[in-house]
Amino acid sequence: MAIDYAERIPNNVDLAGNRRLRRALEEWQPKFLAWWRDMGPLGFQTRDVYLRTAVSVDAQGWAQFGYVKMPDYRWGIFLAEPEPARAIAFGDHKGQPAWPDVPGEYRGTLRRLIVTQGDTEPASVEQQQHLGRTCPSLYDLRNLFQVNVEEGRHLWAMVYLLDAHFGRDGREEAEALLQRRSGDPDKPRILGAFNEKTPDWLSYFFFTYFTDRDGKYQLASLAESGFDPLSRTCRFMLTEEAHHMFVGETGIGRVVQRTCEVMREHRTDDVRRHGVVDLPTLQKYLNFHYSVSLDLFGSEISTNAANFYTMGVKGRFEETKKTDDHLLKDATYTIAQLDGDRIVSREAPALPSLNERLRDDYIADCARGMARWNQVIQRHGIDFEFVLPHRGFHRAIGCFSDVRVSPDGRVIGQAEWDARHPEWLPSDEDRAYVGSLMHPVVERGTFAGWIAPPARGINGQPVDHDYVRLS
Ligand SMILES: [Fe+2]
Ligand SMILES: [Fe+2]
Repeated sequence: MAIDYAERIPNNVDLAGNRRLRRALEEWQPKFLAWWRDMGPLGFQTRDVYLRTAVSVDAQGWAQFGYVKMPDYRWGIFLAEPEPARAIAFGDHKGQPAWPDVPGEYRGTLRRLIVTQGDTEPASVEQQQHLGRTCPSLYDLRNLFQVNVEEGRHLWAMVYLLDAHFGRDGREEAEALLQRRSGDPDKPRILGAFNEKTPDWLSYFFFTYFTDRDGKYQLASLAESGFDPLSRTCRFMLTEEAHHMFVGETGIGRVVQRTCEVMREHRTDDVRRHGVVDLPTLQKYLNFHYSVSLDLFGSEISTNAANFYTMGVKGRFEETKKTDDHLLKDATYTIAQLDGDRIVSREAPALPSLNERLRDDYIADCARGMARWNQVIQRHGIDFEFVLPHRGFHRAIGCFSDVRVSPDGRVIGQAEWDARHPEWLPSDEDRAYVGSLMHPVVERGTFAGWIAPPARGINGQPVDHDYVRLS
């Protein structure tokens, strides 16, 4: 039976009136569903899940909540409302009207930026595929699936751009996005952090806190793009992304809460025998996810970053709120660099330092949520504080990838690293312990012993709502 895709794919891009685009998406849609069946959440695909679906870009109510089976989710295509007479805000084309179509000379660059962003979306679904089997509650299970279907929609958002603006090349890229696999040695996902495993729910919460937040900063700088459809696509994606980071921040906050309760109740730091995650282990997980996410911003000095800016395809975070010349040709920026075995600050030309500047914005944001976790610890009268490790710690990209750096920012030798890294990063034993806590809890209103219930439910529903119907 023919499917009415214009109806099936909620959109504000006039899919009904664009036959060529509709055909491209109709061809891609069954392949996407095959990928979802193969690589999407294991189990639960025939269950009713209380999900939000984007149905418009209306700030007053862009989402609809209701029970859906995940394969029936209506993955839609939405661009934020156009800004009338929008002009390019930075770079060589500053002041010119934003481009409704891809400028020929930037076609390759824009395609690569869109593909790199698009590739992260299905990758995270693949990384989280098996987590449903060990969910700490129905509330958390629902949030996992919400994030998964929305990452699926973000893939749709990028595939829309490829199909609508890049012709045959775009269609090939759209196919390839469904063929790479997270962690596959032969056809890995493009970026390192998206090939790491997300083996347990603690990793998942840290991933959504740190790695989805990288997504926020990438999307925010692409939202400044002179290529207007990319800008509008990313602006709408950011509204969904906020929930993903909420899942991470509150998830970790609830783990910290539970650990502190147990520490107080039993007057001990030795909480593993009571089935919760000790604070030093949480710090190690934090160190891991933070450092692999810092790598996603790229090298401190990058000609690509400079070119993207000068071309007008990728701006700074909150570019339009800044009051400088938006050209940065003569400006400098302070970056951390290696000087022998010391880490020093130095002034570098601003344009090639744009990755580092975006990383700085990200680091400040990471610290804000972490401060709220520290408040939970303080409220329990416990003497412990999470800290973000030094930016040079455990890096695989940029100038610090050549050396070993301790969390407090000392360049150290291999021998000290070998001896001490089990204090700084999750050891096999830590991972095994955390893994041992992961048992499914699927009774309404019940939570695994290692995590506190949330303060409130989703969309005004109670905490013990039937978020995933298992019968
Ligand atoms: Fe996403
Ligand atoms: Fe996300």
